[in-house]
Amino acid sequence: MNTYIGIDLGTSSVKLLLVTADGTIVKSAVKDYPIYYPQSGWSEQNPEDWLNATLQGMNELLQGQDRSAVKGVSFGGQMHGLVVLDKNDAVIRPAILWNDGRTETQTQYLNTVMGKKALSNYTANIAFAGFTAPKILWVRENEPENFAKIDKMMLPKDYLAYKLTGVLSTDYSDASGTLLLDVKNKRWSKELCDFCGVETRWLPTLFESYQPIGKIRAQYGLPNAVAVAGAGDNAAAAIGTGTIENGACNISLGTSGTVFIAQDEFSVDEHNALHSFAHANGKHHLMGCILSAASCNKWWLEDILQTNDYSAEQDGLDELLGKNEVFFLPYLMGERSPHNDVNAKGCFIGLRPDTTRKQMTLAVMEGVAFALRDCMEVAKKSGLQIDKAKICGGGAKSRIWKKIVANVFGIPISTPVTEEGPAYGAAILAMVGANEHASVYDAAKRCVKEKDTVYTDAVLTERYERKYRYFQRLYPAVKAIFSDK
Ligand code: XUL
Repeated sequence: MNTYIGIDLGTSSVKLLLVTADGTIVKSAVKDYPIYYPQSGWSEQNPEDWLNATLQGMNELLQGQDRSAVKGVSFGGQMHGLVVLDKNDAVIRPAILWNDGRTETQTQYLNTVMGKKALSNYTANIAFAGFTAPKILWVRENEPENFAKIDKMMLPKDYLAYKLTGVLSTDYSDASGTLLLDVKNKRWSKELCDFCGVETRWLPTLFESYQPIGKIRAQYGLPNAVAVAGAGDNAAAAIGTGTIENGACNISLGTSGTVFIAQDEFSVDEHNALHSFAHANGKHHLMGCILSAASCNKWWLEDILQTNDYSAEQDGLDELLGKNEVFFLPYLMGERSPHNDVNAKGCFIGLRPDTTRKQMTLAVMEGVAFALRDCMEVAKKSGLQIDKAKICGGGAKSRIWKKIVANVFGIPISTPVTEEGPAYGAAILAMVGANEHASVYDAAKRCVKEKDTVYTDAVLTERYERKYRYFQRLYPAVKAIFSDK
């Protein structure tokens, strides 16, 4: 039977899946790589680490498998990261990642000098610190010697595709997050490129996520595999969870947290608080992104409590649901949606001498759910009605966290059989690009199955509604303190 490889280039690791044409996972592999925080609020990775980890993962994945049966490879990847190569294809500087907050000045410059209205007209979005264009301005201003060497500019997953195929490509969903794409008309924006000093010849060729870009180079031992463009990790995850039809919603609890709403038609919300990006099925989506989601839990449990036993820490939290007096603001890396504030910081609020470890653990999960609800509120205000959602990402492994999210949002939340959203979505895109299925819709319909659904509980939803009203007042109350450096 034909098989397909889906590669998700995440922030902490690369995940690879080998999947048959009917969506059965044959094997998986995960390889970690380091993340560097050279200064507070900065985050960087080495593209060579991504490539080495991917090649190691690929060898592990294919050990004992029929390599000639692999008909397609595709990619999902952390979005917005700036990868720059010189004319000899050497990486010029470490990639600046999606959750890097160094570009406050450049973000403001874009939003005020070009102006939000013009930005929205040209690209369908305004500038956020994590987007690629402010990073380009930062390199131009702070590292002119590096800027002068640029010959190619790409996104993280596109670096992998380039190395594996020799083709410099990107797809519309990932390109949407650069702030250099005219999302509505699906072409690079000349206005933005000129404003940021980007030569269009540096940029990758644009593809739909499900389109083939070329053959995998012979040296990688996949003689029959076509490489397919792939998608930004959120659009890939949406494919992997079957979030395709107009109005369908996926919540991701990964390093970042996102509320992703598939849209058949292009649109922008009134204040551009949600990102208006292309979807991997050829259509569109609106998305809110919080910078720290499952990473808050990881920080709290592993770094602070020094434990890896997540389930022991989450045991017994049911009886505290909706009654917690402790609140947590999850802004460990500043915040993107909806606050757009690189200076925001994490905090616990409401501690007393009898506050327990359990209450603080619960507050962290609740704080992430409330911050995601902030994104959902923007969608609601712009008239979108969401009455159910899918969920994926590492946090979706936690039953209690799903119960919290369902009740904070007041909607049922379903988990697909495969929680590895982006890697699974990438495998589905590979199938479409290799003509195994006629469309993304058909492929997802064939492959994606639902595992379980967490329904809301009227009492809990009511309690969380009150807690959320309180949560909403916390960020405005502390905002000024964060920006007072
Ligand atoms: C989306 C975003 C994050 C990263 C995480 O806009 O910045 O979800 O893609 O990998």
